Amino acid sequence: MTIIEARQRIEQLTTEINQHNQRYYEAAAPVISDFEFDSLLQELQQLELKFPELATSDSPTQRVGGTITREFKTVQHLTPMLSLSNTYSEAEIKEFDQRVRKVTGDEITYICELKYDGVAIGLRYEQGVLVQAVTRGDGIRGDDVTVNVRTIHSVPLKLRGDYPEEFEIRGEIFMPRSSFDSLNAGKEEIGEQPFANPRNAAAGSLKLLDSAEVARRKLDCFLYFVIGDMPFDNHYDNLMKAREWGFNIPLYLRKCASVDEIFEFIDEWNEARHNLPFDIDGVVIKVNSYPMQQSLGFTAKSPRWAIAYKFKAERVVTKLLNIVYQVGRTGAITPVAVLEPVQLAGSIVKRATLHNADIIAQLDVRIGDSVFVEKGGEIIPKIIGVDLTNRNHNTYPAAYPVHCPECGAVLTRTAGESAWYCPNEDGCPPQIKGKLEHFICRKAMNIDSLGEGKTEILFDSGLVSNVADFYDLTYDQLLGLEKSYPATAITRERTVKFREKTVENILRAIESSKSVPFARVLFALGIRFVGETVAKKLAAHFGSIENIANATIGELLMVDEIGEKIAGSLTGWFALEKHQMLLERLAVAGVKLAGAKSNTPDSDVLGGKSFVVSGVFSSYSRDELKELIGANGGKVLSAVSAKTDFIIAGDNMGPSKLEKARQLGVKIISEDDFAEMIS
Ligand code: IVH
Repeated sequence: MTIIEARQRIEQLTTEINQHNQRYYEAAAPVISDFEFDSLLQELQQLELKFPELATSDSPTQRVGGTITREFKTVQHLTPMLSLSNTYSEAEIKEFDQRVRKVTGDEITYICELKYDGVAIGLRYEQGVLVQAVTRGDGIRGDDVTVNVRTIHSVPLKLRGDYPEEFEIRGEIFMPRSSFDSLNAGKEEIGEQPFANPRNAAAGSLKLLDSAEVARRKLDCFLYFVIGDMPFDNHYDNLMKAREWGFNIPLYLRKCASVDEIFEFIDEWNEARHNLPFDIDGVVIKVNSYPMQQSLGFTAKSPRWAIAYKFKAERVVTKLLNIVYQVGRTGAITPVAVLEPVQLAGSIVKRATLHNADIIAQLDVRIGDSVFVEKGGEIIPKIIGVDLTNRNHNTYPAAYPVHCPECGAVLTRTAGESAWYCPNEDGCPPQIKGKLEHFICRKAMNIDSLGEGKTEILFDSGLVSNVADFYDLTYDQLLGLEKSYPATAITRERTVKFREKTVENILRAIESSKSVPFARVLFALGIRFVGETVAKKLAAHFGSIENIANATIGELLMVDEIGEKIAGSLTGWFALEKHQMLLERLAVAGVKLAGAKSNTPDSDVLGGKSFVVSGVFSSYSRDELKELIGANGGKVLSAVSAKTDFIIAGDNMGPSKLEKARQLGVKIISEDDFAEMIS
């Protein structure tokens, strides 16, 4: 293909993909399948790789990320990013209105908006193209997170219509609750600490160094403030204009002429906010007219023409009936408060998390106490205190269990960790059931005809106690199995029964799971910290379970995204004989324990040499260096030992490592020396 042909095809693909994106995201009416869409995008990606000079910063390929950032550049805001003065009281809103009217007179229009609970962002556009996205930082300087923001579909990369040549638009990047729930579910699956709320998740995601991961997190962005040479002299009309240019201007805004109208807006949203698909933490009230805004001016920190009314975290008092201790798939124990049911923030709350033993002790919470329960930014309600005036003095602090409530094993706690664990991985029912359920789930082996209920029956009947047992099941064993579940407050009594059709479906699904690709099998094994992405990377790098099992920590660290925590978890898992036996049984059953390997070394110039990478570098990221070492036949080690040939030392390398290297006579080289070695 000539460059001219490539340019034409790139333009064609770009227009087509942008149209599909618009249909998908703005009109929610896609006309092609995800597969067809991905094919178009892949063709464009391939062409941009082949002809990098034709790749543009507003190409739709930017949406899928792929750029790895070393650290974010700090840049100065062209206009400082001020905050808003906050209030929780209606009286202060009245005072605000009076202050404003003293300056502007009574002919005033306010714009009431929602206060989105996310991360503030400033987007700069030049000639209609997004050129920079900067976080708030300290208000004067923020982080340049453009590569990550480009992956957010509601942020236009290229504007349409009669936009100003250069301007800035500000808004909030947030994580919709649906994205948040699936992100946290994924984290729990691999035993990682979930994010406490969507705001933390959005902030954490924006600072990720791998923009492809940001793209997967499905962030969203609302815009609420324009700066520059705008067509109108008021906030509202400019926002409406900005919507025409392609910006995601929220629909939730209203013109109000009096405090009463403002209070109406506040009251409505204080109720309705629970039905929104994202979190808000209040309402923002802005003077609409720019000349009026100008005459009101600013204090050192915030404009005098706007104020934020924050919703109070909703709080109720109820009775703590009991504390139960749940055991997760990883064995972690979570204390859960059982409450007298109470209405809170749009739903009936019956349970609240008590997090861990330390929190219970700190709160000195006792069964029978009247407790304050709050639902703030967090999704799960929490107990924030005890009404001591109401305490029955015959109560005692709850004793944290010493034994697992499910299997009786003595609980253990690692120094520095807050959670207690049940160590009885192979004998504790919820841990075993959790592993079985993880194995069959859609993203793993996809044995979809075995829902949670049925797996439990197989476990209870003693037919399945580890994942290899699924492959020994026979028709006769399954037919006729059944279990009755008693009625609850919301469900009738029901019986799950394995009839002929059910059994056939289950056996068929188990059979088809044998063709599930290796990467998903690896994920299905439920090794701690090995989520879907890590499993894919490992499978692509090593090609087979055998290679992963035989890899040293250093070799595992060579793989992109594998740090010491994951490498340690993998080697620990493979070291156990029971896991080796499990793998042998899966292999005999015909489950795929190998797949295509994609990373064969590019060269062998570093053959037999081992490296430790330490410190911060200017031309490469640490992961890039590790990848280059592997790609050139070398080995990456995590710690300096007599086996180390070289240390690639960056800035801030730990002094103890340096000292050890000197003692052992390990050669210390710079990143430039390394570049020379592989050039
Ligand atoms: S206007 C100069 N409008 O709240 C005024 N801010 O506590 C610029 N926020 O830093 C801000 N929703 O991150 C504005 N509809 C909205 C908002 C909003 C959320 C955030 C923003 C700001 C913070 C102030």
